Amino acid sequence: MTALAIASQKGGVGKTTVAINLAYSMARRGRSVLLVDTDPQGSVGLSLSRGIRERCGFYDAVAGSGQPAEFVLATRLPEFSLLTAGRSVSFGESGGGRVLDASGVENVLLALGELGNDVMIIDTPAGMSGVTSAVLSGSDFVLIPQQAEPLGVRSVPQALQMIAAIRREGNHIGVAGIVMTMVNADQRESVESEAQLRAALPAGIMCTTTIPRDAIFLRASSAGVPVGLLSRNPVAPAVAFDQLAAELEGKLGLPELENQDDGIRQLLD
Ligand SMILES: Nc1ncnc2c1ncn2[C@@H]1O[C@H](COP(=O)(O)OP(=O)(O)O)[C@@H](O)[C@H]1O
Ligand SMILES: [Mg+2]
Repeated sequence: MTALAIASQKGGVGKTTVAINLAYSMARRGRSVLLVDTDPQGSVGLSLSRGIRERCGFYDAVAGSGQPAEFVLATRLPEFSLLTAGRSVSFGESGGGRVLDASGVENVLLALGELGNDVMIIDTPAGMSGVTSAVLSGSDFVLIPQQAEPLGVRSVPQALQMIAAIRREGNHIGVAGIVMTMVNADQRESVESEAQLRAALPAGIMCTTTIPRDAIFLRASSAGVPVGLLSRNPVAPAVAFDQLAAELEGKLGLPELENQDDGIRQLLD
């Protein structure tokens, strides 16, 4: 099992959108995927189904209200299961609620890792401290969504420093990549901020795949589904997530997929 955290310093950069749609694409490709919401605002549950907030989830497991496995929800796609943030979310909020127990978070992730999925994708709240730091300590890789806008780009070195600090504490988390989100090919600022980042960072750290800015993401989250479910015909943003899934499967070192090939090796005899 490979645990991939989706994290960034900033909110509103597309973390939850990436987590849901990447998890769905990987599941459609035949990986068994567990999507875990560790954001106290519980946005994964909100986006996928109404009424899901009433169910126990991640923070209930951290609070010791039950075994993590009991709270995992199956979906209609057999390869795709889900653990929402749950009811005890005040547990994870700074200020109110109880103090978060980092080892409790790591233990829940360890238990979830035993469930036999190929990949666990973990959505996190904004920022790299608190629960996100505990999630990162318990993950194999982190994917950092980065909004394609000039100011957004400044947070990348900060995020990489936070990850370096977590590594110095003896954790082995790897950076799976930085993925540009909400890219608008018609807007100069968007294109330039992406080019700037690609020039500034070591080759290989930026994902080749970028996620376009597209109103369909708003439609998908209000309809409560990954974009790939909105239409029978593949829509461009869904294809971007299929591409991102394929790219990351290599970076995460996941084994080759079986049964993806119909066996044709040449077109003509
Ligand atoms: N590629 C995109 N194109 C257009 N809107 C997007 C895109 N990605 C995310 N959004 C929208 O931007 C908002 C913030 O995205 P979200 O995934 O919730 O970010 P985060 O989890 O980082 O706070 C949401 O309303 C979402 O629907
Ligand atoms: Mg979010």
